[in-house]
Amino acid sequence: MSEKPEYVPGLAGIPAARSSVCLIDGAAGKLQYRGYPAEQLAEHCTFEEVTYLLLFGELPTRAQLEGFSAELARERSLKFRIIDVLKQLPESGHPMDALTAAVAVMGMFYAEGDHVADPAFRRLCAIRLVAKLPTVVAAWHRIRRGDNPIEPRTDLGHAANFLYMLEGEEPDELAARIMDVALVLHAEHSMNASTFTCRVTASTLADPYAAVASAIGSLAGPLHGGANEVVLQMLRTIPDASPEAVRRWAEDKLARKEKIMGFGHRVYKVKDPRADILQGLAVSLFEKLGTTPIYSIAVELERQMKDLVGHKGIAPNVDFYSGIVYEKLGLDTDNFTPVFAISRVSGWLAHLLEQLEDNRIYRPSQVWTGTADRTVVPIADRG
Ligand code: ACO
Repeated sequence: MSEKPEYVPGLAGIPAARSSVCLIDGAAGKLQYRGYPAEQLAEHCTFEEVTYLLLFGELPTRAQLEGFSAELARERSLKFRIIDVLKQLPESGHPMDALTAAVAVMGMFYAEGDHVADPAFRRLCAIRLVAKLPTVVAAWHRIRRGDNPIEPRTDLGHAANFLYMLEGEEPDELAARIMDVALVLHAEHSMNASTFTCRVTASTLADPYAAVASAIGSLAGPLHGGANEVVLQMLRTIPDASPEAVRRWAEDKLARKEKIMGFGHRVYKVKDPRADILQGLAVSLFEKLGTTPIYSIAVELERQMKDLVGHKGIAPNVDFYSGIVYEKLGLDTDNFTPVFAISRVSGWLAHLLEQLEDNRIYRPSQVWTGTADRTVVPIADRG
């Protein structure tokens, strides 16, 4: 007789799929998309190239990339009724909630009678979702402060066009490149909470908009993508960058068993390789725009944390330095996680396509902890 599988909280270490999208070696700090090191992709490729790689399994030729980029650029704009939906939302609402809502309604506006079983429909949904998410984020950024959204441009790259749609100013080369690298670095990360959510929803044969809307909801939480927003707020509560002040602050938090945001990872037991690259991007931005006091605090916190909890494998994750980069690029703090979403959508969709190639609906089991076989007492007789 086979033994019942053991219950593992958070499904830690339990394989949930067979996948060829992303490989992580948490002990070595290794991250690869489709077998290519993330560091090399960040150095040599654009977000469009990486999205092509994730969705279709191979790096594109120049002709394939031009065709793909043109398709994405053509699909950037939103139906005006989706903008109307955004205009009905409370301006105090969080941009991640606006994004979830907009993506869910996209499924109604772009349904076109097709079905997810059709690979051509799946491909079209993938192109549309990657193309339109930045437009939604930029539109909501403007609508909530009373401005009209800015139409996307087709002559700019994905990252540059996103920055352009925020304020109507074409970004300089450095800002566009840094945004592009940040998008590349966040595009995929194997079976994390939001990717798992996306695969579970996709496995029911729900449409890709529903799958991505559910993934955005999952990404929003502070233990996952939402951490990048909280990191900056947290760093601001540290009085100064002196070793004594930072140490005292960290020791207090740890003594209270509070999590220090931007540290720790289910898979990495060393510094997340993406954190190193993002730190480098922050430094290159400072060379042009001047440094920020928060950065010195962050560097000192990394140093103190290494001493305090480094032996437990708790090190900076991707979210630790990303907020510092985004703030320097002029993004609002609550737009950091939406930026994560406009990148990670490529990874979610790669997993969705993989899931649907060989689908079986997710339906795990549970360990029953309740009382069984109870008898209902009619309400009139209950004490
Ligand atoms: N600060 C302090 N202690 C920590 C931290 C942290 N950031 N992360 C883990 N630990 C400690 C825990 O307290 C626990 O200690 P214990 O064994 O003495 O009780 C141990 O390390 C294991 O931590 P878990 O929370 O059980 O690890 P898990 O793998 O479940 O969680 C997670 C990983 C959620 C990322 C966790 O490290 C965390 O909450 N980090 C802060 C939030 C964050 O930065 N999230 C972004 C992650 S990257 C991403 O999703 C894009």
